[in-house]
Formats: sequence, structure tokens, C-alpha cells
Amino acid sequence: MRLLLINGPNLNLLGSREPSIYGSETLDAIENRVKKKAEREGVSLESFQSNSEGALVDRIHMALGKVDGLLINAGAYTHTSVALRDALLSTAIPYVELHLSNTFAREDFRQKSLLADCAIGVVSGFGGMSYELAFDGMMEYLQALK
Ligand code: DQA
Repeated sequence: MRLLLINGPNLNLLGSREPSIYGSETLDAIENRVKKKAEREGVSLESFQSNSEGALVDRIHMALGKVDGLLINAGAYTHTSVALRDALLSTAIPYVELHLSNTFAREDFRQKSLLADCAIGVVSGFGGMSYELAFDGMMEYLQALK
């Protein structure tokens, strides 16, 4: 089983970025925790972060045929990016959308996602733990396909 964890814009600043909303854990620390969990379950998990929409689209394309599932926190692009939605649908790799914060409890513009309706599921509001919950959800989904 091969999974790819994708993080979008500004998530490289986790730890110092608006800690009252996103917590004080760095992206590295979160990624390492999920990678350890994946290792324990015998799953290969790679991670990628970019602030650039095009680089995220390119990384999703590169995953075609190489990855069984995607875990994606697209950050602000969640709410705006038709290009990311199209990239995800073009590869048809199953994905879980995830967010640290509960986007439904925030500004109106965050309550719309261009990715959610085609996702296996959405995890939102559990801080760093959203990543592990998204991983668990993806594993359940992929194991049920076997
Ligand atoms: C976020 C929520 C988005 O609305 C925001 O633009 C982010 C982070 C989250 O993880 O809570 O960058 O995806």
C-alpha cells in the first residue's frame, strides 16, 4: 500500500502560524507522526508540501499509477482551486480531504470546498490528529476494496 500526503500553501509555517487556530505543532512533527503510524502498519507514506498551485497539480499527476490513496490538506486552495479538483479527478486516485481547523465553524468562504464532494471523506477540526484520522479512514477504505 502506498499513500501520498499532500499539504498546500502556508502549511509549511505550522507551529508559528496562527497557533490559536492551527496549534503549535510543526508540519514536520505531524508528518513524522503519520509516517511512524504508516510504518507500523506496513504502509509506505510519502509527503509533499508546496505553496504553489501548479506544483501541487504536478505532484498529483506524478502520483498516477504509483499511489493507492492521497491524503490532502489543500489549505486555502480547498476553497478556490478548480485546477486541484480537476487534477484529483483526472488521476482518479481516491483521496481524503483534511483540515486542522473546523472550516465549517469559521468564515463563510471557508465553508465551501471544491474538493469535498468527490472525496472518500473529510476530516476537519481535530488539529494534528486530523492527519491520523484521515490516514485511518483511507486505510479502512482501501482494505475494504481488497
Ligand atoms: C486549513 C483551513 C483552510 O481554510 C486554510 O486556508 C488553511 C488551513 C486547515 O488545515 O485548517 O490554510 O486547510
